[in-house]
Amino acid sequence: MKKDISKNTNIDINSFLHYGKKYGTPLYIYDGNMIVDRYKSLYEYINWPNLKILYAMKANYNVGILKLLKQHNAYLDTVSPGEVQLALKLGFKLEDILFTSNNITDDEMHEVKKTGVLFNIGSLSRLKKYGAAYPGGEVCIRFNPDVYAGENKHVQTAGNVTKFGVLLSQADEVIKIVKKYNLKIVGIHEHTGSGIAQTEKVFQSMKNILAVANRNDFPDLRFVDFGGGFKVQYKPKTHRIDYANFGKKITSIFEKFCKEYGKELEMYFEPGKYIVAESGYLMIEVNTIKNNRGRLIAGTNSGFNHLIRPLLYESYHYIENLSNPKGKKYIYDICGNICETGDCFAQQREMPEIREGDKLLIKNAGAYCYSMGSIYNLRAMPSEVIVVNGKDQLVTKRPTNNELAESLIYSTLI
Ligand SMILES: Cc1ncc(COP(=O)(O)O)c(C=O)c1O
Repeated sequence: MKKDISKNTNIDINSFLHYGKKYGTPLYIYDGNMIVDRYKSLYEYINWPNLKILYAMKANYNVGILKLLKQHNAYLDTVSPGEVQLALKLGFKLEDILFTSNNITDDEMHEVKKTGVLFNIGSLSRLKKYGAAYPGGEVCIRFNPDVYAGENKHVQTAGNVTKFGVLLSQADEVIKIVKKYNLKIVGIHEHTGSGIAQTEKVFQSMKNILAVANRNDFPDLRFVDFGGGFKVQYKPKTHRIDYANFGKKITSIFEKFCKEYGKELEMYFEPGKYIVAESGYLMIEVNTIKNNRGRLIAGTNSGFNHLIRPLLYESYHYIENLSNPKGKKYIYDICGNICETGDCFAQQREMPEIREGDKLLIKNAGAYCYSMGSIYNLRAMPSEVIVVNGKDQLVTKRPTNNELAESLIYSTLI
């Protein structure tokens, strides 16, 4: 690996402040060059001739990010008909998209099937319905690898307590259904969880689903997809996973399997967080400072409707005071403008003195932040800007309150 990918950003403080002034806050800013570096780095770490890295677009479906990744020949992992439609409209090729369905309706199945995108199916029930409607076609099967891992219980997507995937012990039933409808299993898939710190859990998941392919009758495999889950460093000065070593181990496990299987298969991964988390920033502005019996509260013009990870997953996001980086340190709760007590980006966080009017930068806000946002309290989502080679471009414009209100009025009947 030649590039120092632990490097944080290509954007300096003055540029951030400039974007804040130009576009207003709250504002999402993405470092496009960093996204491309992260995407490409996986091809350097995992040395396999038939490797495909599918960007999990649920992490951030910003059109600027998708177009940029497309310029670098990225593949996509999609999870909804909406994501499939967007990917196709942006010119991603059918064969470069995988659709991982999860509790879809029949209508959704037919809608996506019409596009021609390959289905990754994670339940016997859906497999039967798919087979009955589209006999003779190709599918990928999502298995539960029986290993749980991930940085929060809500994002541990395998093991005993999960809705995802077909159990490994149900492989026989999968084969029966496939034979009945003359389907071809061209891929098998697993996704263990998001933000996996213990890399040995990934290796175990890989071995578990590869064993299923070895033990059972899967003669038509073209690829094995090992999901996403690559952890990034949310807290500064914490351990960064050695992905070069990780890549070597992955390759050796897969190479051994392919020898036994008798064919050099394609290996897929579908990371979201790893590709975009560290490139994203949410810039917010402080409008109220309060001292509640000694507890300092910095009230800002954003909230959990724009960035829910601290509330949903108790996630840590590093926050910088761009306006007063060298100020005397105090302890703050940094809160939003939404009517919930849990509406805090950070609690009891040591920060350089925060004053009304200061601009704060919430880091590692590129994955599962904007894409999980809402207009709760009827506050519009922020604008989004992408910066590529030093040039900033507005991708999503924040609607005015009037536009937001208008967008909700569909009918004049009531
Ligand atoms: C099936 C599947 N693939 C890939 C991902 C991407 O995970 P991550 O962003 O942790 O890499 C997810 C996220 O939950 C997922 O559910």
